[in-house]
Amino acid sequence: MSLIPYSLTRHILFQMDAETAHERMLDGIAHTQNTLLQNAYTRKQVDDPIELAGLRFPNRVGLAAGLDKNARCIDGFGAMGFGFVEVGTVTPKGQPGNPKPRIFRIPEKNAVINRLGFNNEGLDAFLHNVAQSKKRKTILLGLNIGKNAATPITNATDDYLTCLNGVYPHADYVTINISSPNTQNLRTLQSDEALDQLLGAIAARREILQQQHGKRIPIFVKIAPDLNSAQISVIAASLRYHAMDGVIATNTTLSRDAVKGLPHAEEAGGLSGTPVFDASNRVITQLRATLGEKFPIIGVGGIMTAADAVAKIRAGADVVQIYTGLIYTGPELVQDAALAIKAMRS
Ligand code: FNR
Repeated sequence: MSLIPYSLTRHILFQMDAETAHERMLDGIAHTQNTLLQNAYTRKQVDDPIELAGLRFPNRVGLAAGLDKNARCIDGFGAMGFGFVEVGTVTPKGQPGNPKPRIFRIPEKNAVINRLGFNNEGLDAFLHNVAQSKKRKTILLGLNIGKNAATPITNATDDYLTCLNGVYPHADYVTINISSPNTQNLRTLQSDEALDQLLGAIAARREILQQQHGKRIPIFVKIAPDLNSAQISVIAASLRYHAMDGVIATNTTLSRDAVKGLPHAEEAGGLSGTPVFDASNRVITQLRATLGEKFPIIGVGGIMTAADAVAKIRAGADVVQIYTGLIYTGPELVQDAALAIKAMRS
């Protein structure tokens, strides 16, 4: 049961600039997880299991990547009732990201613009934190990997393979993030030959890691909403060709149509929240039509209410993830969305 209504927490957090609020919130969870104070945000985990990519998801609502980049709060987010928790994006070496300020709220549209640029402590610290999780065995955990800003895009594969080697033994699934708009040229990895080359290398390394560790870890690829239908078709074909296990759609958008004229709308970066909802659903619907009924699709982008979560499942997602909705709506969204998705099918 919750002791503090989220409306109050939100009021306090929204007095601070967005990144300070984010850090305070994460520090709060890091310091209270696995203590009695965790009751302030603990919610019952809705029981609505689904089997996907050989994994059993206890329910269909997960935490999206980027909120807990250094994997400090796995247990705390697990306690909020998420069916799965994805942490990262981690890069091989720690890096500071872009200069501040670099996160901006647009409350008129339940939206955020961020240009963090994969600020994180690097792979070693990330794996150390994952190992600290006391609830690791009871939480379905996705580890999301990327490339360092200083690595030329032509050598991006090396960074992904370094991260894949590191996270493989510790992940329930691995996400290949090729869709952040805040690392120069990263999104070019989504096109034709670059994608083919990257996924080919990832698939080959997975075979080796499978032999080494005696387990096959599913690999999901996270894509952008800013893709036309021809680009989505190419990506779908490549996912199949390289036997990827699923796709996460989508990351943030570069479009500003939905926020035009509002304060901060012209800040550089990726836009998340309500403005990305329709675009992400369009990508999901095309992916479902192209990839068929069985291919795992994780839908993310703009879920603010339980009804939004249901709509994303109807658009073609098997399970969903939330980030910006947690900021605007609060932890109750996790349980509400999971219950609504369960109810829609009964
Ligand atoms: C993100 N997102 C993100 N995604 C990712 O794969 N790796 C990352 O490091 C980040 N970092 C990040 C930081 C911030 C501040 C935001 C708001 C978002 C993208 C996120 O996981 C999600 O795909 C999009 O935000 C769309 O979903 P929501 O936020 O509309 O629910």
